[in-house]
Amino acid sequence: MQFKQEFLDKLKNAKKLVFFTGAGISAESGIATFRGKDGIWNKMKPEELASFDAFMKNPDLVWQWYQHRREIVHNTKPNAGHIAIAELEKFYDVTVVTQNIDNLHRRAGSTKIFELHGNIERNFCVDCKTFYYLNDLENTESVPHCKKCGGLIRPDVVWFGEFLPQDQFSGGEKAAEWSDLCFVVGTSAVVYPAAYIPMSAKRAGAYLVEINIEPTELSTNTDYSVFGKSGEILPHILEFIKQQK
Ligand code: OAD
Ligand code: ZN
Repeated sequence: MQFKQEFLDKLKNAKKLVFFTGAGISAESGIATFRGKDGIWNKMKPEELASFDAFMKNPDLVWQWYQHRREIVHNTKPNAGHIAIAELEKFYDVTVVTQNIDNLHRRAGSTKIFELHGNIERNFCVDCKTFYYLNDLENTESVPHCKKCGGLIRPDVVWFGEFLPQDQFSGGEKAAEWSDLCFVVGTSAVVYPAAYIPMSAKRAGAYLVEINIEPTELSTNTDYSVFGKSGEILPHILEFIKQQK
């Protein structure tokens, strides 16, 4: 695989890398993306499943949908893309800023991760905000209730109309601003405020590299767009680094 020389030069001299990732990086693990022809939002209406109102109206239905997605995530593994990013920590200060809730970056071994949209493995009580991991819950067929106050337990994911976790967003934004290279991997980059992250990186002087199977809204603003599967391209980048060091 041939990469643009300017990009390789930047990579040789870089110290801090940020990977801003979306559903596309997990596509090769078998997890459906949101947009595009087989996208989740083509089959489901987000406002009926991924909003607080939907949850309060029909908590069991929403809970069961997340249980279904949890099962998919549990039965899959990080792919070569996640693993290459984790391995790059041997050579760089690497921060992952992800829109994904699937926990696959952590399972691949990445250690510095900001999760902009939450994490499907975690839940919390809507009333007293106590956190619950799945192992803490007994009956998960229908929506569980808080052991402390009896409130409904919801997945700790960001729903439509909700704010992003402030600490995760500002941590991710700072990392992006301090980075030498910011990779935008497998995201349509149309969902805000998350999509501000790569723009902040570029404004602060980072070299912006996109990896996607097709052009996106961001492509005209990147320094370099590489088109192909992230599970194939990222291992090639890792190989190049290994040969340099
Ligand atoms: P999308 O489904 O909008 O975009 C997935 C992107 O991945 C597309 O640009 C695809 O071209 C690309 N892609 C697919 N397979 C790929 C592969 N093997 N290698 C590289 N790229 C690939 O997903 P996101 O951008 O993550 O929000 O969506 C952003 C947010 O919208 C999600 O976090 C979710 C959703 O509503 C919340 O749930 C809050
Ligand atoms: Zn409670």
